[in-house]
Amino acid sequence: MAGKTTSLLMLLLLSFASTLLIGHSTSQNDRKAYIVYMGNKRNEVSTASLYTSMLQDVIGSHIGPESLLYSYKRSFHGFAVELTEQEAQKMAGMDGVVSVFPNKKKELHTTRSWDFLGLPKQVDRPTTESDVIIGVFDTGIWPESDSFNDKGFGPPPIKWKGKCQASTDFTCNNKIIGAKYYRSDRDFQKEDFRSPRDSEGHGTHVASIAAGNLVSKASVKGIGLGTARGGLPSARIAVYKVCWYLGCDDADILAAFDDAIADGVDIISISIGGSSDNYFIDTIAIGAFHAMRNGILTSTSAGNRGPNLATLSSFAPWSLSVAASTIDRKFYTKVRLGNNKFYEGISINTFDLKNESYPIIYGGDAPNKTGEYDSSRSRYCYEDSLDKKLVKGKIVLCDVENYGVGQLLAGAVGTVMQGRRPSSGAFAFPLPAAYLSLEDGGDIYLYINSTRSPTATIFKTDDRKDPFAPYIAEFSSRGPNPAAHNILKPDLAAPGVDILAAWSPISSISPISPISNVNFDKRALSYNIISGTSMSCPHGSGAAAYIKSFHPTWSPAAIKSALMTTAVPMSLEESSGAEFAYGAGNINPHKSANPGLIYDIDALDYIAFLCGQGYSTKLLQAITGDNSSCPKGTDGKVFDLNYPSFALSTPSSNSISHVFNRTVTNVGTSTSTYKAKVSAPTGLSIKVNPSVLSFTSLKQKLSFVLTIKGTIDRQIVSASLIWDDGTFQVRSPIVVYEAF
Ligand SMILES: *[C@@H]1O[C@H](CO)[C@@H](O)[C@H](O)[C@H]1NC(C)=O
Ligand SMILES: *[C@@H]1O[C@H](CO)[C@@H](O)[C@H](O)[C@H]1NC(C)=O
Ligand SMILES: *[C@@H]1O[C@H](CO)[C@@H](O)[C@H](O)[C@H]1NC(C)=O
Ligand SMILES: *[C@@H]1O[C@H](CO)[C@@H](O)[C@H](O)[C@H]1NC(C)=O
Ligand SMILES: *[C@@H]1O[C@H](CO)[C@@H](O)[C@H](O)[C@H]1NC(C)=O
Repeated sequence: MAGKTTSLLMLLLLSFASTLLIGHSTSQNDRKAYIVYMGNKRNEVSTASLYTSMLQDVIGSHIGPESLLYSYKRSFHGFAVELTEQEAQKMAGMDGVVSVFPNKKKELHTTRSWDFLGLPKQVDRPTTESDVIIGVFDTGIWPESDSFNDKGFGPPPIKWKGKCQASTDFTCNNKIIGAKYYRSDRDFQKEDFRSPRDSEGHGTHVASIAAGNLVSKASVKGIGLGTARGGLPSARIAVYKVCWYLGCDDADILAAFDDAIADGVDIISISIGGSSDNYFIDTIAIGAFHAMRNGILTSTSAGNRGPNLATLSSFAPWSLSVAASTIDRKFYTKVRLGNNKFYEGISINTFDLKNESYPIIYGGDAPNKTGEYDSSRSRYCYEDSLDKKLVKGKIVLCDVENYGVGQLLAGAVGTVMQGRRPSSGAFAFPLPAAYLSLEDGGDIYLYINSTRSPTATIFKTDDRKDPFAPYIAEFSSRGPNPAAHNILKPDLAAPGVDILAAWSPISSISPISPISNVNFDKRALSYNIISGTSMSCPHGSGAAAYIKSFHPTWSPAAIKSALMTTAVPMSLEESSGAEFAYGAGNINPHKSANPGLIYDIDALDYIAFLCGQGYSTKLLQAITGDNSSCPKGTDGKVFDLNYPSFALSTPSSNSISHVFNRTVTNVGTSTSTYKAKVSAPTGLSIKVNPSVLSFTSLKQKLSFVLTIKGTIDRQIVSASLIWDDGTFQVRSPIVVYEAF
C-alpha cells in the first residue's frame, strides 16, 4: 500500500535536486520538530499514506499517522514531524519535497484611526460587506467583547466552510463565525486557555481594528473616549489562534493557513514577525503564497525593529507589508514639580493623583544596600534595586523607561522615567507614570538635587491633536527588501501608534515585566491603547476587506495596487528612511475603492519573478504542483513584475539606465485618457513611453515602459509617477538607492 503510493508520487513528480534544507546541529538521537513543505495540493495523492511512507523510508521503522504533528492537506501539502538532523536531510532529498526546516517560534510584533484615515462611520458601504470574512491569526479573541457582538448579523455567508472548535469556555456567534486553536506541542502554560479564547489581549485588539463593531463611549478609564470601530464593522471574523504565552510556532501558523484558505476567508491578517530571505522556508511567505493562488490577500506587519534601514520582517511580493504611522491624536501625561513647573511625558496613565504633591526622589539616591545594589543600578530602578524605606510613598525618578515594577514593589506612589524620546507610542504602567525626554528628566534631577523637600505630582493622561500626523513611528521596520532589492517594501503605511481597540479584560493593560513575570496590574479593562506594526497590519487588512466588499472578484494584487496607488504620499522630512519607511504612503481606504487603474499580477507572474530570483523550474513545479516553468531570459523578470511601485538598487556613482515594463488595467471610466506625470529630482531622467494611455473600455489593459537614467548623489532618491485622467490620480512611488 505504502509502496504503491510512493511510486504513484514518483510518476507525478520529478526529482528535485534543489530542495532547501536549513538545519541545526543536533546529535543523532535528538529529535525535534521540523516542517516538511511539499508545495501545492495534488488531488491524486492520499496524503496520510504518502506522508507515513515517506517517514518510513527516512526513519526505517513504521511510523503511524499519529506521530505527525500536522498533516497539511487542505490547501497545500506537507507535514510537521519530529526528526533528527540526519533524517531531516534525508527527507529534504525526497521527491516532491520543497523544503525542510525546523519549527521555530515567531513573535507578536478606536478608534479614531479610521476617522483620521477619512473613512467615516457613515461612508458608503455595500450590503455585501457582511459577506466579507477576515481571518485573524493571533492570540485568539475575547468573544464577549462588545466589539464582536452579533446583534443584527445574519447567518454566516454560504461560502464559509470553517468550524468553531468546541470547547467549554468558547462559542462562536454570527460575528465571530469560526475559531480554531493550534498547538502541536501541547505546551500549554497556566496563562493559556485551551480554546480560541484570548488571554493576552493582542488578538482581540487586532481583530477589532480590522472588523470590530461600532462601540460608543469606548475608552481606557476615560482616556481616548470615543466610538471604537473596525474598518469593516459588518464583516465577519474567523479566528485562528496560533500564538500562545510562549510564542507562535511555525508548524501552527502553517496549519492555520492550510485551514483558512480552505475555509473560505477573503483576507488574512497576520501581525506576527520573524522571517527569512528564502520565501519557502518561511511559513508566513509559504502560507501567503498559497493564499494568493486562491485569491486571498495576506496583510502582514512590517516589523518593529526600526528606525534603521534593512530591518523589515515581511517582504514577500504576494503579501501586503504594512508600516506603522501615527494618527492625529497624541496622548500626553503632565508632571508638576513643587516649584510649579510643568513637564509633558508620554504614557497611558489612568491613575489620578488629584494634583496632590508627593515627595520625589532620584532612584540613584535610593539604592537597596542590603541587596548589595549601588546607585549605578538603582538609577534605573531595576526590580529589587531600590530601598523601600527611602522610596515608599514617593515618586521616583529613573534613568530608563522600564515596566514600573521595581518602583511599584518598592512602594513608590508614582514614577517619572527619562530616556531618549521615542515616537513609539504611549504604554500603560501599573502605577502613575510618565516617560520624559532626557532634557526634561535632567531638569527634574536638578530640581531634586537643589531642593530641600522636592515634591511632584503626575496627572491623568490627556490627549490633543497632533498637527504633524501622519509620520512613520520610529519602531516601524524599514526596507530595503532583503530578498528582492528591486521590489519596494514595505508597501504602505497605516496607523500603528496609540491605537485604542478591544482587549481581554483578564489581561494586564500594562506590559508585564519579563523579570518578575507577575501581573501587578489590577485594572480589568475591555479596551486598551497600544502601538506596533501589529496594529497597522489590521488597518491594512480592514482597508483591503473594504475594497473586497466592493470588488469581490479582484485579485490580491489588484486590491494591493488599489491601496498603494491611492495612498497619501508621505515625506522624508518627518519619516526617516523615505519610501523604505512608508512605501507608497499612508492608506486612504475611501479612495482605494475607486483607484481608476490597477497594476494586476497573477500567480504566473510571481512564478516568473521567482525564476528571476534564481528559483529553479523544478522547485517551482513542486511549489505550484503544475507544469509552470521558467520562461526564457528571466533576468529582467524581477523588474517586470507588475508591481505598483518602482525600486532600483544601483552601485554608488554608477550611471544608471534601466527599463521597467508595466501594464495597467482600466477599472475607472470606460473611455478615459491618462497622462503620465513624473516628478523626479535633478540628476535623474525618468521617461514614460507611451506617455498617454487612451482606454476605450473597462478591463482594457495597456502597457508602458518606464526608463530611469542618470546618477544619484544620495543614498535614497525619491521620485514618482502619476497616471492622471483628471478624475483619477494613480500614483506609484519610485525609489533609486545605493546598493548596500
Ligand atoms: C495643581 O495645584 C497647583 C498648586 O497647588 C496649582 O498651581 C495648579 O494650578 C493645580 N493644577 C491643576 C491642573 O489643578
Ligand atoms: C533588597 O534586595 C534584596 C535581595 O535582592 C531583597 O530580598 C530585598 O527585598 C530588597 N530590599 C528592599 C528594601 O527593596
Ligand atoms: C547634588 O549632586 C551632588 C553632585 O552630583 C551631590 O554631591 C549632592 O549630594 C547632591 N545633593 C542633593 C541634595 O541631592
Ligand atoms: C503537464 O503537461 C503535460 C504535457 O503537456 C500534460 O499532459 C499534463 O496534464 C500537465 N500537468 C499538469 C498538472 O498541468
Ligand atoms: C519590456 O519592454 C521592452 C521595451 O519595449 C521590450 O523590448 C521587452 O520585450 C519588454 N519585456 C517584456 C517582458 O515585456
